[in-house]
Amino acid sequence: MSDPLYTEIIIDEGKNPQNQGTIENPDISHHDSNPMCGDSITLQMSIKDGLIADVKWNGDGCTICKACTSVLTQMIKGKDLDYARNLKKEEILSELGLEYLLKQSPIRIKCALLSLKVLKFGLYSYLAKKLKDLSSFDNLKEEAASLY
Ligand code: FES
Repeated sequence: MSDPLYTEIIIDEGKNPQNQGTIENPDISHHDSNPMCGDSITLQMSIKDGLIADVKWNGDGCTICKACTSVLTQMIKGKDLDYARNLKKEEILSELGLEYLLKQSPIRIKCALLSLKVLKFGLYSYLAKKLKDLSSFDNLKEEAASLY
């Protein structure tokens, strides 16, 4: 019996991940690692007129991590910042056929969601720098804290 973790899309995206590379002078650049294995991802974005004009990633990760990062970058490229800000873990897991990981595999879920964590931290750091008043900062902090 085949491992249900390795859906067709995971195998395809893991073998041929999209949007790998770096962006010169990105507006957002954030890096984080999976504490369970040390694998890490850096995500970079350029923002134009409130849209994610370009997104690139690099780093080391297992097939699940690479496939999820590839799919995440395809989902957010060309979208506005609110789309990325509101993107839920259930949506990316559903895109990959991995919704069951939420209940069944706390270890593999970290592989699948590392890039989403990097995206959210990078995005919230960027948004915090753009704020004009401190009350908005408190709201942003509260929203960011509820992510995981
Ligand atoms: Fe390291 Fe999956 S084993 S990210």
